[in-house]
Amino acid sequence: MSILRDKNILLGITAGIAAYKSANLVRLFIKAGANVKVVMTPASKDFITPLTLSTLSKNPVYSSFVDEDDASQVWNNHVELGLWADYFVIAPATANTMAKMANGVCDNILLATYLSAKCPVYFAPAMDLDMYKHESTKTSFEKLTSYGNKMIPAGTGELASGLVGEGRMAEPEDIVSFIEKDVLSQLPLNGKKVLITAGPTYEALDPVRFIGNHSSGKMGFEIAKAAANLGAEVILVSGPTHQTITHIQVSVKPVVSAEEMYNEVHKHFQSVDIAILSAAVADYRPKNVADQKIKKKDATFSIELEKTKDILKSLGEIKNNQFLVGFALETNNELEHAKGKLKSKNLDLIVLNSLQDKGAGFGVSTNKVTFITSSNDVIENSLKSKTEVAEDLMQQILKQLNA
Ligand code: CTP
Repeated sequence: MSILRDKNILLGITAGIAAYKSANLVRLFIKAGANVKVVMTPASKDFITPLTLSTLSKNPVYSSFVDEDDASQVWNNHVELGLWADYFVIAPATANTMAKMANGVCDNILLATYLSAKCPVYFAPAMDLDMYKHESTKTSFEKLTSYGNKMIPAGTGELASGLVGEGRMAEPEDIVSFIEKDVLSQLPLNGKKVLITAGPTYEALDPVRFIGNHSSGKMGFEIAKAAANLGAEVILVSGPTHQTITHIQVSVKPVVSAEEMYNEVHKHFQSVDIAILSAAVADYRPKNVADQKIKKKDATFSIELEKTKDILKSLGEIKNNQFLVGFALETNNELEHAKGKLKSKNLDLIVLNSLQDKGAGFGVSTNKVTFITSSNDVIENSLKSKTEVAEDLMQQILKQLNA
């Protein structure tokens, strides 16, 4: 999954021959999971049709202030378009449009949208080589970048004129990866590695049976997504679960038992900056695992259990600079027990789940948690979706890291 997933991308198209590549650009943004709207200069419609772009983007295309095809003459609100966009990408950007953007001219809807947009703006110049080299074009580049806009440089190659040189619009794939990299580089956890455990563990009794629990893994997977969306590289060690995640920043390491989870976590711990252990690890496992399926014989049957390794505790014992987060699932004396775990496991933060709270815990999509920090701050949260809880948790971690 791309970092652009669920982002709103407004694509601005101006009147250059490279506009034919904009269709592909729309496709790539859609493939990345983004929502796309297109705004065009009137002249760019000579190079590519609004119908192509509206079909690919699944949204109406805007090229004038008033919707002329509509008998009621609807006003196309450029301010709303600008506010809708998380990113405004102008590709191709002609010398003419860039000069206008650089000087605050706004005689079409694309320019008016540009002037009112508050989001990051990227522009991919496209023109003939002599125009590209012209002093006035260079001045436009300088002015536009000095306003905080980001230029996606043109490439060198054969141009529509038949001449060979600089001025070819960057290829759509390169435009998308330029933006993805730039977006990533701005995120607060860019360059950081986060290790997360999720789900239950299954402790084998014989080849067909196990001792497990009802953890769905949802909380851990949501935390992985939230961390990845903040730019972190995530290693998600997960017990058996139906949850799935496809995110460019997340690599999933499936495990089954507590012992496997322990080994996988220790493989990565030294290389990470943050570890969040949300898995519901079995505390005990059968002491002996039968080679063959156990047959029913007597009226009662006992299983001898032995303790599993406490993964979280073991990390607390060896941590250097890692920020370590644990979960506590409690039914009574919640705060006291959670504070005890925070201390005994040498944590920086513990997330308390009380089973007394309705809508909290296993198998539901909501959670109500309390954060307790190593400096004894207690932060209570209301009942929220697990997605929101994961986002709150990541914000709490950022807050403590930046304190
Ligand atoms: N945990 C772990 N390894 C284990 C058991 C628990 O890493 N073998 C982690 C969980 O992922 C969670 C935290 O420890 O982050 C707390 O788990 P919990 O079951 O609430 O606490 P325990 O320490 O196991 O204590 P108890 O069951 O007695 O409350």
